[in-house]
Amino acid sequence: MATESTTRPAPTLARQRQAAMYERALRRLPGGTDSNFRAWGADTIYVDRGLGGHVWDLDGNEFIDLRMGYGPVILGHADPRVDDYVAERMRRGVSFSLTSEDEVRAVELVCELTGWVEMARLTVSGTEATMHAMRVARGYTGRDRIVKFEGQYHGVHDYALISVLPNDVTELGDRANPVRLAWGRGIPAAVAETVIPVPYNDLETLRRIFEREGDQIAGVIIEPVLGNAQGILPREGFLPGVRAITEEFGALLIFDEVKTGFRFAPGGAAEFFGVRPDLATYAKAMGNGYPVAAFGGRREVMSILPAKVSHGGTYAGNRVAAAAAVATLETLRDGSVLREIAAKGRRIQAGLSDAITRRGLAHVFTGHPTMFGVMFADEVPTDYRGWAGTDHELYDAVAVGMHRRGAMPEPDSREPWFLAAAHTADDEARIVEIFAEALDAALEERAHRRAGEVGH
Ligand SMILES: Cc1ncc(COP(=O)(O)O)c(C=O)c1O
Repeated sequence: MATESTTRPAPTLARQRQAAMYERALRRLPGGTDSNFRAWGADTIYVDRGLGGHVWDLDGNEFIDLRMGYGPVILGHADPRVDDYVAERMRRGVSFSLTSEDEVRAVELVCELTGWVEMARLTVSGTEATMHAMRVARGYTGRDRIVKFEGQYHGVHDYALISVLPNDVTELGDRANPVRLAWGRGIPAAVAETVIPVPYNDLETLRRIFEREGDQIAGVIIEPVLGNAQGILPREGFLPGVRAITEEFGALLIFDEVKTGFRFAPGGAAEFFGVRPDLATYAKAMGNGYPVAAFGGRREVMSILPAKVSHGGTYAGNRVAAAAAVATLETLRDGSVLREIAAKGRRIQAGLSDAITRRGLAHVFTGHPTMFGVMFADEVPTDYRGWAGTDHELYDAVAVGMHRRGAMPEPDSREPWFLAAAHTADDEARIVEIFAEALDAALEERAHRRAGEVGH
């Protein structure tokens, strides 16, 4: 793969239509978007369309998409296998608040692909899935507290928004005794009190907390990798250790597989790491971008529904979502598509590694080849606090530079790149070239800035 680059100026991207849309949207949508995570000020992107592994903005600029909607679009944008099935099924009506065969089939496929989930319920978003999984754990154990790990994002309900992604990691407090850091206002202190944050990969702190208050802990929710710190991996023995501690203290283990599910393997991270939780949540890759999610697990635990724990939703299992899950999971079922995506990821990593090494920079890869991060660091950090010690400013400059050159990773070093089946061999080569050009430009810019600082 090509890795050489001469530092060419990045083309200036047309922004006229998006600038006008930004002005228009700002009048009615706070920040001009429907999610805080998409509100990038004057750089906010307004999308026109996507096809395969590419996306076009409102001004007609084309990008190789490395965000893929924050992960769900595992096959590719506008994949006909999914869209045609959804279109056919939706002509029969989409919303009845009655149960369709597609819903039953979707859950059967979740059980089949994971190999351990015995019962599940569909929801519309990952947020609802983690909220209900936490409630099931509380209802099942009769305990109120939930342990979560710092730097992990489980959606936007109140119980999930504790110690998530501060830019300043000192806000997380002493690592042996972390503070409950609410993300933004509006989260009642009484809710935050029930959530116990622990640094990821730190079994010692976890055990100490269980020894102190284990009789009040309903469960541990964990994304098996630190998906919001570029997919930092669990240390050898960490996930089995968490499993053992939860069993010892009678708490449930919840895997949040919203990003890893149906991506790391047909059976998600549970299969990939060989650790079986009691409950898990799925979303994203489950529906190739359609709004579908699920929470499920052991029959004995899930059987607390419907009599003793609340779960509902007008749109839970709606036809569009359920049909999308059926078509997507049928496509992912034998694992071959996921193996192909992983092979693309490994080839891209080899190209990036070559390009970065030639420029004499230390770097490490995190995550899984289908969802990985590249960090400018000597070694992989083990937790969210460690992310702060990587050269993430350089990464951010590279990501912004890639965007100007026609590839779109998230302009934030915490978010991994997501690959899809639709990314082509040409895309792979272009991604590496664009990365190398953006890296050269970022290094040059940094050298100029430093020379300027010395000169003053
Ligand atoms: C691990 C994890 N859990 C939960 C969620 C929330 O899912 P949703 O955005 O569908 O509510 C996300 C979203 O990015 C996630 O990455």
